[in-house]
Amino acid sequence: MKEKRGEFSSRLGFIIAATGSAVGLGNVWGFPTNTASNGGAAFVVTYFFLAFLLAYPALMAELVIGRCTRANIYSALENISATPLSRWSGRCIGAYAIAVATAILSFYSLVAGWMLAHLLASASELAGNTAVQNWLERASLARNLLCAGVFSILTVTVVSHGVQRGIERWSERLMPALLLLLIVLIIYVLQQPGAMTGLSLYLLPDFSEVFHPSLLLSALGQAFFSLSLGVGTMLIYGSYVRREDNLPALGAWVTLVDTSVAFLAGLLIIPALFVAQELGITIYRDGSLIAGPDLIFQVLPTLFDSMGANGTVVALAFFLLMTIAALTSSISMLEVPVALIAEKTPLSRVTASWLAGSLVFGASAGIAANFDTLFSLVVTLTTEYSQPLLGIALCMFAGWVLHRDRLLAEIRAGFDGVEQSLFWKIWPFYVRVICPLLIGAAFLQSIIQ
Ligand code: TRP
Repeated sequence: MKEKRGEFSSRLGFIIAATGSAVGLGNVWGFPTNTASNGGAAFVVTYFFLAFLLAYPALMAELVIGRCTRANIYSALENISATPLSRWSGRCIGAYAIAVATAILSFYSLVAGWMLAHLLASASELAGNTAVQNWLERASLARNLLCAGVFSILTVTVVSHGVQRGIERWSERLMPALLLLLIVLIIYVLQQPGAMTGLSLYLLPDFSEVFHPSLLLSALGQAFFSLSLGVGTMLIYGSYVRREDNLPALGAWVTLVDTSVAFLAGLLIIPALFVAQELGITIYRDGSLIAGPDLIFQVLPTLFDSMGANGTVVALAFFLLMTIAALTSSISMLEVPVALIAEKTPLSRVTASWLAGSLVFGASAGIAANFDTLFSLVVTLTTEYSQPLLGIALCMFAGWVLHRDRLLAEIRAGFDGVEQSLFWKIWPFYVRVICPLLIGAAFLQSIIQ
């Protein structure tokens, strides 16, 4: 017999799991990096505006479709469609979204594997095993495959235990640890010489930069990636929310926590860069702050090394933070194909999880073996092209395809008096017209550039 469909046990359970999905390498790495390469505080301000103005409404579109259909994205888009044409396009868009989620996970696990490698390297250093430490610190295909493999096994194991005993339980264990590590690291870094220079760059905006088109675009892309939008992760998490819970409030919490953690991560990384500079490490290249992999795997490790004995512990804490952030996100991505397989075939969740996990690992191995040609291609195709287009499609499905009565009934189930709320006055029009137009405009501009 098929298992019963999963459900989050409480509002808090959902908020922690969904923020676990949202808070990931995108926050701890992507956000500070983007801030560093887009003029500091001006980017931070733009990002917060866009997160609430564009990403939150799109997040609500996914949560509402998910809860009202209680299904994976493929069946969900089909289910809300009334005509054969929209049913057919729903199935195509759903299938495409699942493919994109799987592709994102395949490069994400590789990057998470690097974090795990550095975490284990710091642990080996503490244990005095220099040979293992050196092997783990040096990039090689064998190391990358091994670490991505271990990370994938962790992801599959959590997902195979289901919604409450896997996703919810592990998010509840890992997210407080993440927050604690982040705060301890911030306090430590802010006390080091040089940190204040970084802090002022991070917090004092140069408003002339705010309307720079490339800044707007990076901020939009960052917001979509960070809130895990477009590929059905939030849709499937929404499908596990109890009917009596207030969806607009839950979505607002997730957006708020996600942006706050991104902000905190910036308080760590940007000042850390300037602490490194104080120690003589180069942090500028061609006139702008070093971003990308070199920031995480060269500048910061050099900084940790020059901190003496404390440095190893700080490095351990930092890479543990990164690994945890990646894990609670990767489980939400794996849930997308797993929900499809478990709901559409007779296979159990456990089999579905191992099957999808193996598929993703195969793709990760393919990318790792052809890194120079494939890695940035997959990143660009999925995050820069597919995610915004799918975001538009999901907003249009929530706004035009999902019947208004059904939409209202769904939100009303956990939100008495929704008809009189500001949310209901603004959001339906917003998600129908404004979101697709704005996301579309930003997208067009990015490909014309
Ligand atoms: N939001 C996560 C991060 O910031 C990554 C993530 C999880 C994601 N699920 C996603 C990104 C779905 C895009 C699509 O790291």
